[in-house]
Amino acid sequence: MAYLAPSILSADLSRLGEEVSLIEKGGADYVHVDVMDGAFVPNISFGAPVMKSLVGKTKLPFDVHLMIERPELRIPDFVTDQTEYITVHQEACTHLHRVIQQIKSLGVKAGVALNPATPVCMIEPVLGDLDMVLVMSVNPGFSGQKFIPSALLKVCELDEIRRREELGFLIELDGGASPDNAELLVESGVDIVVAGSAVFGAPDVCGRCGEFLKILK
Ligand code: DX5
Ligand code: ZN
Repeated sequence: MAYLAPSILSADLSRLGEEVSLIEKGGADYVHVDVMDGAFVPNISFGAPVMKSLVGKTKLPFDVHLMIERPELRIPDFVTDQTEYITVHQEACTHLHRVIQQIKSLGVKAGVALNPATPVCMIEPVLGDLDMVLVMSVNPGFSGQKFIPSALLKVCELDEIRRREELGFLIELDGGASPDNAELLVESGVDIVVAGSAVFGAPDVCGRCGEFLKILK
């Protein structure tokens, strides 16, 4: 069983409200919000005002993925009644433990993301503090990239650690997910599947969510 979190990075932003209604109707579990600053990653997407325009327009909770430097300066901007997770990158935080505590002190669940080249051991000391680990299966910055298979080794490693240590964090996978690899993702231990182009690039966005969910649920 896994949740589906379509990324609005791949949505038609001129019709953002309608696009989010389609994924809600299709049964998606979260709205994945990809925030990029053009510094941590080579692309600029959108910020808190765009996310906040959806408050009250959908019942779906927000899963915020901050691909930005110095995230501690911006985290409060993303806290709303609908914000369930805020995820920061390990590579962007000098004081990762402090940032995790900051997110939790604002009443939001805390996640940490790992770039494809970052090993799981970099966050082992904080795994007990986390609600989620986001494993990147593409280099962050753009949607529509090819899935990097070594991400699954990290998913398996995290799944094994949480069983052994009896920890409660969820595992999210982000990048290159599609109905073709969704079953493999769930079998490996993924709890939340992020999908950008595979959902919003489909001719029938609502139907594509259904296709994913048949495999994930
Ligand atoms: C990549 C973003 C992803 C991206 C996924 O930097 O974090 O969430 O939008 O897009 P797809 O599913 O098309 O790889
Ligand atoms: Zn993302």
